[in-house]
Amino acid sequence: MRINIAIDGYSSCGKSTMARELARELGYTFIDSGAMYRAITLYFLRHKVALDDATAVAAALSNIQLRFERTPGREQSHICLNGEDVSEEIREMHVAGQVSAVAAIPAVRHFAVAQQQEIGREKGVVMDGRDIGTVVFPDAALKIFVTADIQVRVQRRYEELRAKEPGITMEEVRANLEARDHIDTTRAESPLRRAADAVLLDNSRLSREQQLMLVLSWAREKT
Ligand code: C5P
Repeated sequence: MRINIAIDGYSSCGKSTMARELARELGYTFIDSGAMYRAITLYFLRHKVALDDATAVAAALSNIQLRFERTPGREQSHICLNGEDVSEEIREMHVAGQVSAVAAIPAVRHFAVAQQQEIGREKGVVMDGRDIGTVVFPDAALKIFVTADIQVRVQRRYEELRAKEPGITMEEVRANLEARDHIDTTRAESPLRRAADAVLLDNSRLSREQQLMLVLSWAREKT
């Protein structure tokens, strides 16, 4: 039996890596819902869309087409914004600095959630984000809520970003993570919270392999 698996949690907890590996082991589709909010943010930045102008936001959304594409031989799928592969650019700090404000706009969430639910209709999807277990797939057979110590998260994100943005500091990374977590947990529209039926996973002291074995065992119990 194929199920949907919802993975939520704070920024830079390694959710996407875990979700991608889990999907690969199960032969499921992996969807990084954060990449969708980041791609929308990139479009808004490029077109200077004022976030408090509901008409401009609606017009911008009607011009956005998002697609996940896979290249044979490349394990990671990439996200295309109106046909352009933006997977690299959406990871940059200028996008990270704005994404939580964009993701707090109700029209943006409705736009993204409708597409996420459509993708999950046939089951067999592992999706990670902030509201997957609470809003996108409230009936998911397995829900996981991931946490890790802030220092561990800062260190992981810093190492990831440093290669691409050599000038970046730990303080900047920490400030961005804390700001995003604050906006994500306090926004009015579908804030980040643990669904009542989600399993809690603190991965501060788990290796990637240990974590994968654990979540795979949970998934196999449900399928
Ligand atoms: O997962 P990632 O850190 O790439 O997500 C970027 C941002 O997108 C988050 O900080 C959050 O503001 C937003 N997001 C969201 N709901 C989701 C996924 C991401 O609000 N399901």
